[in-house]
Amino acid sequence: MGMVKKLFDGVFEIGHGIATVNLTPGKNVYGEELLKIDGDEYRLWNPYRSKVGAALKKGMKDFQLREGSRALYLGAAEGTTISHLSDIVGREGMIFGVDISARSMRKFIYLCEQRPNLVPILADASQPMTYKEHIPTFSVDALFQDVSQKNQAEIFLKNVRAYLKGGGYGYLSVKVRSISASESVEKVVEDEVGKLKNEFEILQVIDLGPFEKDHAMVVCRKK
Ligand SMILES: C[S@@+](CC[C@H](N)C(=O)[O-])C[C@H]1O[C@@H](n2cnc3c(N)ncnc32)[C@H](O)[C@@H]1O
Repeated sequence: MGMVKKLFDGVFEIGHGIATVNLTPGKNVYGEELLKIDGDEYRLWNPYRSKVGAALKKGMKDFQLREGSRALYLGAAEGTTISHLSDIVGREGMIFGVDISARSMRKFIYLCEQRPNLVPILADASQPMTYKEHIPTFSVDALFQDVSQKNQAEIFLKNVRAYLKGGGYGYLSVKVRSISASESVEKVVEDEVGKLKNEFEILQVIDLGPFEKDHAMVVCRKK
């Protein structure tokens, strides 16, 4: 059936939407639509609800997550985006999800109970050593970050040094208005990207509009 086109391992384009194959058939996570096509059940990935989803819709060129990958995700919240990453890495993979909010964590823990490849970590992402016992072998293939803090690049770099393997991929979503209320988006994003350049090769900077206003996704590879 020509309707489903593979974009990356585990990520598909269906019509105008993108989707992952549901690891927990029959169950949706955040009200997203489920589609049965040729015996597989797909979950539509809403780009208005997920910055990684928005980046994929906006033409992300490098998405290095596949079956069996291990990733650390900072700013897990209720697990909307992580649920799709969980579909992609499958039962052999693992996603460690950190969030500082106990309230969001409650919903996320419920998701983790249904998806054995998710590990909930209630912690402050700016203190990466406080959760090292949760991350066996201390190295992940990819690091995702979506936290509403002023020092986003700094938090990202601390976690990179603690957990991301050499050659590993980073996906930093920059929320411009948490950094500055008045500076231009271009200037704030450029400054954040500048902080990564010593340790990363910058692969792509994606403006997430119209899905998220004043946000960018920085795709980079650790040197
Ligand atoms: C925009 S939400 C994340 C949404 C989520 N990434 C998704 O797409 O499903 C930002 C999250 O960052 C969390 N956060 C803010 N500061 C944090 C910190 N220092 N450490 C960990 N999480 C933090 C907030 O509790 C909030 O849940």
